[in-house]
Amino acid sequence: MSSQQPAKDISAELDYQARHAAAASPIEKNSPEKIARYRDCKSHRAVRKEYTFSLIHQLKPATVLDFGCGDGEVCVQLALIGYQTTGFDVSPEYIQLAQERARIDGVEGKAKFFVADGSNVSIEEQTFDLVLVQLVLHHVDLRPCLENIRKHVKPGGRVIIIEPVAYSATLRWLRDRIPVEKDISPNERQLTHADLKIIGEYFTIRSRKHFRLFGRLDRVFPRFLIPLLLQLDAMLLSIPGMSHFAATTVILADRPITIDNGTSPLANNS
Ligand SMILES: C[S@@+](CC[C@H](N)C(=O)[O-])C[C@H]1O[C@@H](n2cnc3c(N)ncnc32)[C@H](O)[C@@H]1O
Repeated sequence: MSSQQPAKDISAELDYQARHAAAASPIEKNSPEKIARYRDCKSHRAVRKEYTFSLIHQLKPATVLDFGCGDGEVCVQLALIGYQTTGFDVSPEYIQLAQERARIDGVEGKAKFFVADGSNVSIEEQTFDLVLVQLVLHHVDLRPCLENIRKHVKPGGRVIIIEPVAYSATLRWLRDRIPVEKDISPNERQLTHADLKIIGEYFTIRSRKHFRLFGRLDRVFPRFLIPLLLQLDAMLLSIPGMSHFAATTVILADRPITIDNGTSPLANNS
């Protein structure tokens, strides 16, 4: 396993992530109840993380790569459920937190971490049954990272991509004008249909599920109302056309069998 030095132009991203890692709450051991929640995924229709875990349980991957794993929470929870996970992130501070998590939860053998830039990471090629990319692509240059994601999935393997989206031009317009403080990194943006088309050039998209309509206002509502909001969102998002207003998408995709000149012959996933 090797990684190259991050490119110079991501230094602002590195500073931003270092500040956030330093401000992260102290790491707590996962409770058995929390792990049972993500093993059983009873609320998978409404809660994005449970939906993601339920997809992983259906796929039963022997090896998982968490591409841009942040503080390693997902890797460690998957490891506690029984998966073999590897996570990397461009932020050394986050990787330190991830290693600390694995140690606290006693899964150092099942959750391994290292520092790398997703646009030039190099692990052994075609190694992983599943590459999980959660809330990372909206921080990076898409094509080099997609190329590296594809490189590391085994033939026939799967990719799960979870990203914030802004399909509606009206919502984008409103968001830019609402005077709330936005704590976002220098390269951060929401993905559009054009970005999803690019993802479709690298992978065959099998399914796309959307989350968060009112849930995007979670900071405005009292905590006890959030589960209700998420249920309401799930109900509304089952109405055709409503996904246009969603804030997050979860994409399940395959690594295409044949790649010609860097594009997939199956790429028609608009
Ligand atoms: C919003 S966080 C998501 C972290 C984690 N995937 C999660 O869902 O908790 C975005 C992560 O992307 C990482 N990141 C940004 N640019 C990256 C790059 N070029 N290569 C690898 N990771 C990157 C950041 O350091 C940060 O940890």
